[in-house]
Amino acid sequence: MDISKLSKSITPSGTMAISNKARQLKEQGKPVIGFGAGEPDFPTPSYVIKDVQIAAEDPANHKYSPVAGLNILREEIARTTGLYSGFDVNPEHVLVSNGGKHAILTTFMSVLDPGDEVLIPSPYWTTYPEAVKIAGGNPIIVDTEFEDDFKINVQQLDELKTEKTKILVWVSPSNPTGVVYSKDEAETIYNWAFENDIWILSDELYEHLVYEGETSPSPAQYDKDLTNTIVINGVAKAYSMTGWRVGWIIANSEVINMAKKVQSHATSNVANVSQIAAYSALKNGLDETNKMKESFNRRRIFAIDAFNNVENVNLIKSQGAFYLFPDISFYCKNNVISGVSNSIDFCNWLLDEYYIAFVPGEVFGKNGFLRCSYALSDKDLNEGLNRFSKAIKEIK
Ligand SMILES: Cc1ncc(COP(=O)(O)O)c(C=O)c1O
Repeated sequence: MDISKLSKSITPSGTMAISNKARQLKEQGKPVIGFGAGEPDFPTPSYVIKDVQIAAEDPANHKYSPVAGLNILREEIARTTGLYSGFDVNPEHVLVSNGGKHAILTTFMSVLDPGDEVLIPSPYWTTYPEAVKIAGGNPIIVDTEFEDDFKINVQQLDELKTEKTKILVWVSPSNPTGVVYSKDEAETIYNWAFENDIWILSDELYEHLVYEGETSPSPAQYDKDLTNTIVINGVAKAYSMTGWRVGWIIANSEVINMAKKVQSHATSNVANVSQIAAYSALKNGLDETNKMKESFNRRRIFAIDAFNNVENVNLIKSQGAFYLFPDISFYCKNNVISGVSNSIDFCNWLLDEYYIAFVPGEVFGKNGFLRCSYALSDKDLNEGLNRFSKAIKEIK
């Protein structure tokens, strides 16, 4: 019996292979240090846990609740978005999903028709193209260069635009590069999308994690009726709540009503206690986020310095999220390291020989690079980057 044609084009989450191998080595007792994690290494704030314990006792939370989310959470999302992201939100225009990831898939399923094209800047977070394919669309990759700080420009977008182009994916700060577009740069891209009547799916999961320079304003600041803009956000990264699985879509009524229909047949409401957890996180402000941010920034500066001191490794300035994306292409060529001809080989070599696990650039559409998450303890960061430097020095 056949299964779907989609099975031939879809790939599993690309970080799997290296993290499985890292786990196996750890189980064998090897001192593996992982730079792969896309999640903060801090606990969820203690007030969230306390509020959840109370919520778990409340029988109302043991039952189905509205698909779009609990009213108190939707209202709190609207309030805090107004406060932090600088645009007014009607709580009716919020749909709470099982994480930002689910919000993105639901958006594609709500907006795309078969064959519609979605422009995705590369290097990209590995889920975007796969989610587009699952929803029946075609991912169109907008390749960017190290020399341009991995930023897209209008000329490229013009060249790739067709009558089928429906959505532009926008994420600043970016996973995997940590790049943040300036206000001017962002506005130029937004205007292009508005003029061409193309949706912007603005993934704002990392909005609170910008360490220097200008922050990109949300496109919703310029598109108050959300005619062209769909905002995705969640509590995973900013409040260290990856496991609670709460994200959301902010969009106009037409999109939200369709997304509600899709979600009503997929998952119904997000677990009520998780929604209370997200409500508690938002209600209590950004103090805990800012403490984490301080640690991330210290580690970012340390890691940038460490990579800059390694021969033939190059970095762009990553100003946000918790990732660096060093260029290691020198070591993937000309047999510099025996048996290494791409960044997958390079990452395997680092893991096999030095027990340090990075995610190869291929996972994000870019050979010759690796993604380094600095969301790990200062001690591990220090030890892991020392091993990286040693590895390069020991190449014969
Ligand atoms: C850019 C980006 N968007 C969305 C997500 C999804 O986050 P979650 O589903 O955990 O809320 C991630 C997680 O890695 C991400 O990096």
